[in-house]
Amino acid sequence: MLVVLASCTPKLSRSSLDKVVGSMSVDEKVRTVVGTYIKPATPPPVAPGVNNRADYPGSGENTAVSEGQVPGAAGDGYAVPRLGIPAIVYADGPAGLRIDPRREGVERTFFCTAFPTGSLLASAWDPEVVEEVGAAIGDEVHRYGVDVLLAPGLNLQRNPLTGRNFEYYSEDPLLSGSTAAAYVKGVQSQGVGTSVKHYAANNQELYRNGINEIISERALRELYLRGFEIAVKEGKPWTVMSSYNKINGTYASENHWLLTEVLRDGWGYDGMVMTDWFGADDPVAQMKAGNDLLMPGTPYQIDELLQAVESGALPMDVLDRNVKRILAMMKKAPRVNGYAYKDDPDLEAHAAVSRRIALEGMVLLHNNGTLPLQAGRKVALLGTYAYDTQPGGSGSGYVNRAYKVTLDKGLEAAGFSLVEGLAEAYRKHIADEKAVLPEEYFWVVPTVSEMNVSDAMLRAAAAETDLAIVTLGRMSGEGGDRTAAPGDYFLTAQEKQLLAAARKAFKQVVVVLNVGAPLELTGVEAQSDAILLAWLPGQEAGHAMADILSGAVSPSGKLPVTLASKYSDIPSSCNFGVSEGELNTVRYEEDLMVGYRWFTTSGVKPLYPFGFGLSYTSFEYSGFQATGDSVELTVTNTGNFAGREVVQIYVEKPALSEGRPTRELCAYSKTTTLAPGESQKLVIPLKRSSIDPLAQWTSDGWKVAPGVYRLHAAASSEDLRASIEIER
Ligand code: BGC
Repeated sequence: MLVVLASCTPKLSRSSLDKVVGSMSVDEKVRTVVGTYIKPATPPPVAPGVNNRADYPGSGENTAVSEGQVPGAAGDGYAVPRLGIPAIVYADGPAGLRIDPRREGVERTFFCTAFPTGSLLASAWDPEVVEEVGAAIGDEVHRYGVDVLLAPGLNLQRNPLTGRNFEYYSEDPLLSGSTAAAYVKGVQSQGVGTSVKHYAANNQELYRNGINEIISERALRELYLRGFEIAVKEGKPWTVMSSYNKINGTYASENHWLLTEVLRDGWGYDGMVMTDWFGADDPVAQMKAGNDLLMPGTPYQIDELLQAVESGALPMDVLDRNVKRILAMMKKAPRVNGYAYKDDPDLEAHAAVSRRIALEGMVLLHNNGTLPLQAGRKVALLGTYAYDTQPGGSGSGYVNRAYKVTLDKGLEAAGFSLVEGLAEAYRKHIADEKAVLPEEYFWVVPTVSEMNVSDAMLRAAAAETDLAIVTLGRMSGEGGDRTAAPGDYFLTAQEKQLLAAARKAFKQVVVVLNVGAPLELTGVEAQSDAILLAWLPGQEAGHAMADILSGAVSPSGKLPVTLASKYSDIPSSCNFGVSEGELNTVRYEEDLMVGYRWFTTSGVKPLYPFGFGLSYTSFEYSGFQATGDSVELTVTNTGNFAGREVVQIYVEKPALSEGRPTRELCAYSKTTTLAPGESQKLVIPLKRSSIDPLAQWTSDGWKVAPGVYRLHAAASSEDLRASIEIER
């Protein structure tokens, strides 16, 4: 008799959702829409101020803190064992899985691979490459027993000072969305989920938990939501994470228009939405808006929801709907289907993926023929970031990797030798400073100060070699924005002095930038023979940088953002953080004029335009023509080096409203590696399955204006190589 009864109890893995939900008590339902807050791996610093997790509402009074199933994961769901509902595991993040590398009483380690960060992935302009990274990350997620990865992050890089730009992709929604869709497909190909975040317009860290962003619907639709639209429709992420900020007065997680009318009714999304950690403060409004899961969950939220059900403020059908969406997502999760993970990812194979992919997104900004460098040369290696190279940023996007390869080690492994006196001095300087700095952990990555290099040291080094590599670096992370100040967006006097002194002492000076987002580089070209923007390239950083510097591979990355000559040229520079005279409000007054949209329209010349990147070879475009819904052209490698070229298609649309940009990216494609003399015909669809890039947002919705469209095949937003006209 007992056996018969047990088999009648619905089980999530095999019963219909209606049956499972129908068997749940109100208490179980409420707990299902609230995560079970787990103890953070290492507590964040409890300094008073904004953006501190420990300051978030509810976090202090939480009594239900559990250890979590996978230590270091960001959160667990609620389990109802009698219905076969396990607590599923959510963990960060975009550049690789973040879990604790060590566990108490366990001898073995649980390291993950640190892949290149978002800006580098977008610079590859190659969804296939990004999908490969996604698949490798997804494999680690799966094998380490995590069900949903809290990535990718694809907020638009509206301003270079945003602290989390390194996690994000681009200032352009098409590049952001297509990169994110590829990432999602890659991760989910491994049978685990993603969370496309932070939906939407999480474009700054300052006051991120309360900032009210005033954005026109046109700018939202065409820029800030467009990338999500592509990622959601093409990638089909299991989950979406709502953002902390308010949009036009309403928190994203309490915003019915955003989460229901746009996301579900508009784009047909049928997955689940969760909050960002401790986001917003009205659980009932969140439930009603279509934010299904509150993460990481607090007892306050449980109490509020239970009371709201009792008083009728939260209708049961809303709660049931949200529970069902969570359970529908869970049905796909490995844990629900009895998967026994073994903690056995192939870290060596993934390190090779990380290195290979880092090569695809490094951007060569300047080269007078000095690069590539002949292997075997002696290098005067300058700058602390050369010896303490950073693979990624800090915050939830940090990865607990087993090691990092610094540039000095990468160069040595590639057969270069270093001026020993300099290398010793730098290594000692770094060791001395690290001895007194706090230890690195995800929330804070302390960096070493730049070392003073005396003229005598430089003279001694110049007696040994005529080649210097100067590495300039910047770290940034979650919880704070960067500053328009020396040492952050601007070079310091010391850095400028180092560059000038190197220019004087050495015949050849190569600058390597180890940064997550742009800094002002005006004047650096005059002080150098080459500039390589290596971004934050993951744990194999030094090897990948050396591969490009030595010409093992020609650079093929192109800028996913504009590098302005001066900060004040950036349209959002006067409206970033908080708008003047406002409290907690930022007005996106530049509207559609973000990044290259502004520079190409205004005629202001950037230092390095969006889409720009040099190669060790050269390419010619020919035969540009339209064929139905596609354009085609032939790219020929006209130089002496094998390489890949990114072709961008920009469109000039007949404007249906004022204030439209001159041109917009509407498609792109990257060639395969072309040998010298080799050609490839690219056929590039203009229409995507998710969106029509020729459309523009009007008060009547998306419209493709009838008229003539001018299309440019371009090597950057400023380097238009061939143009044609089509009619719509
Ligand atoms: C971040 C998210 C992250 C979450 C969980 C939040 O602070 O904004 O990106 O996924 O924490 O760690």
